[in-house]
Amino acid sequence: MDWVFRDLITSYGGVHQVTTEFIRVTKNLHPNKVFYRYAPELHTGSRTRAGTPLYIQLLGGEPEPMAMNAKRVAELGALGVDLNFGCPAKTVNRHDGGASLLKSPDRLYKITKAVRDAVPHDIPVTTKMRLGFDDTSLCLENAQALAEAGSTKLTVHCRTKKQGYAPPAHWEYIPRIREKIKIPVVANGDITSLESLKKCFAVTGCEHFMIGRQALKNPKIFSELGSQETTKKDWISQKQLIAGFYQASRSHVNAHFALARTKQFLRNLSFECDSSKDVFNQTKILMKPHLFEPVLSKLLDVDLVLTKNT
Ligand SMILES: Cc1cc2nc3c(=O)[nH]c(=O)nc-3n(C[C@H](O)[C@H](O)[C@H](O)COP(=O)(O)O)c2cc1C
Repeated sequence: MDWVFRDLITSYGGVHQVTTEFIRVTKNLHPNKVFYRYAPELHTGSRTRAGTPLYIQLLGGEPEPMAMNAKRVAELGALGVDLNFGCPAKTVNRHDGGASLLKSPDRLYKITKAVRDAVPHDIPVTTKMRLGFDDTSLCLENAQALAEAGSTKLTVHCRTKKQGYAPPAHWEYIPRIREKIKIPVVANGDITSLESLKKCFAVTGCEHFMIGRQALKNPKIFSELGSQETTKKDWISQKQLIAGFYQASRSHVNAHFALARTKQFLRNLSFECDSSKDVFNQTKILMKPHLFEPVLSKLLDVDLVLTKNT
């Protein structure tokens, strides 16, 4: 997630850690500005404004460049480094990154070990994997390779790359993984409610859980799961949420970024809120901020407070 979303989600409480979107690592060391762009929280101790720790996620297939970039991230004050071995995107996999590395436990080991050795010991190096690439045959070997290389914690998105995002997530693999490795395992995939969280807990026995897409549809999900109470999403508070999101994205980056992200946000909110769906439908064709802003303002009946950033 980006800064605005991390800030929003953690402001409600109930989240113990957040992670950046993946930062692609090829051969070189990124200039610091790249890390600051993905993780402005590095200016504030690698914590969101609510104080939640932020880990920086790296994605790449070569141990040395990954180690070099991880070391720099640690020097910039990151509270943790996370390695992505789960991304299913074709372009990423073609360029030797993300889930394609699940075909080789040895490469997972080498990359993770190189990063672990490069980063001071008090800074966690965590990893994220899927159950496999085409099938689950290397699942346990992959998890073991990551643990042996020194991963502090392992998040498992319970699908293979081939399964994409098709439901269901196969939580039943996690107990087998947990039997093989001693590090904490974080269960991920299709946790969308208290009911599914309880089911996931019953199946996996995990103490740690990660939520992705549902948090984009309901930014209050973590606080709701913590309190075991669903908050009423009245349209007045949703309107303020959307306006605040647009304004924050615009002042944090620029109006074009804010437009794209707010449409994405409206689309996600549409799954649970008909009024958001109306706003999405009426704004989705507006491609320019100067066209989008007045319509959004009118539909939300809110005066948008806009900074000079364009
Ligand atoms: C649009 C999109 C972007 C994602 N980007 C990342 C990413 O940068 N890093 C990552 O580890 N996972 C990424 N994921 C995967 C999610 O973190 C998560 O593992 C997956 O969606 C399953 O969990 P969920 O059912 O809670 O969404 C992305 C997923 C989606 C749909």
